[in-house]
Amino acid sequence: MWTNMLTERLGVKYPIIKAPMLGCESPEFVATISNVGGLGAIGVGRTNGEGVREVIQKIRRLTDQPFCVNFFIPEKRMDGLEHVNDVNSVMEYYRKELNICSKPFMPPNYNIEEQINVILQEKVSVASFTFGCLEPYWIEILKKNGTTVYGTATNVREAVYLEESGVDFIVAQGSEAGGHRGTFLGEFNDSLIGSMALIPQIVTAVNIPVIAAGGIMDGRGIAAAFALGALGVQMGTAFLTCIESAAHLKHKELILNSTDELSCLTRTFSGKPARGIRNRFKTEMESHINLIPGYPIQETLTRDIREAAAEQNNTDFMLLWAGQASTLSRSLTVKELIDRLVVETEDVVNRLNESRY
Ligand SMILES: Cc1cc2nc3c(=O)[nH]c(=O)nc-3n(C[C@H](O)[C@H](O)[C@H](O)COP(=O)(O)O)c2cc1C
Repeated sequence: MWTNMLTERLGVKYPIIKAPMLGCESPEFVATISNVGGLGAIGVGRTNGEGVREVIQKIRRLTDQPFCVNFFIPEKRMDGLEHVNDVNSVMEYYRKELNICSKPFMPPNYNIEEQINVILQEKVSVASFTFGCLEPYWIEILKKNGTTVYGTATNVREAVYLEESGVDFIVAQGSEAGGHRGTFLGEFNDSLIGSMALIPQIVTAVNIPVIAAGGIMDGRGIAAAFALGALGVQMGTAFLTCIESAAHLKHKELILNSTDELSCLTRTFSGKPARGIRNRFKTEMESHINLIPGYPIQETLTRDIREAAAEQNNTDFMLLWAGQASTLSRSLTVKELIDRLVVETEDVVNRLNESRY
């Protein structure tokens, strides 16, 4: 039951992908997943070309198995630049509390073509993206170079757009998912579609394999994703609490002790809606929501606050991204988690076959 078009194309034993989780991973963490039969993925976000190369080479020293490099499609425009000073003065209040000095705002600057060129030069076997769709020109070049390419969709329109642009697979990101929403066509609020509704609709609409993401934590979730027509899963929160994960210990602790009602969607930290555990910053900044600029301006404005909070173990100002099913998280090694996911999924499928439900 574990071999399908997706595993064959990715060159992995199990169609289980550790979601790219920028800021919560390390080359060691990513390589460990690939070494035990899943696909490790690393988010390179706004890293420059040489940084991307360094990370790829480090992973290569730790595994000879395939892994995925994930990047962000840049926004078409920078919304809310005119509010930078107003929002920054609100941030000053938090900087004082954290004892950090204010810094002048520097617009974010990175070059996606530089990242892709490194992926091409390093002949990475799998690449994925979110927040938009890569130009078909680049998708074609990557594929010709031997890289399997997939993108993220949060509605059917995006899935069809990605397919028409030439991607090999699609990640269907349900609204339960931890981290940023990948929405790029239409309004965020209109694309808050749960995995149960989203996955079969995307599977019906496209002719390429679909990978389910959002709220999948154990074998029940994986079996459900298969039942809905997905050929694989991309799991973030479930891997975040693994022993090898590079997530902050306080972040792991909060996930392991969370409740299903603590999850919220917020654009207060980065300007783009993302799901995480509610904390003081998210709650307080909601009163300034109309001032908050878009991504990546707000993300840049809050960076020093988030970094200082992490250093000071202060969860009031940390991102704490996590999905809606985080109460099902476990503190296990990556190998233990993958082994359990395999056994649990097989158990669910066997029970269904034997009508034991
Ligand atoms: C901490 C965290 C960071 C994330 N960072 C990224 C990222 O850099 N790139 C990306 O494509 N998705 C990112 N995601 C979203 C995941 O790809 C995926 O959609 C999500 O984790 C699935 O939901 P789950 O967390 O319930 O498993 C992130 C998710 C989390 C929890």
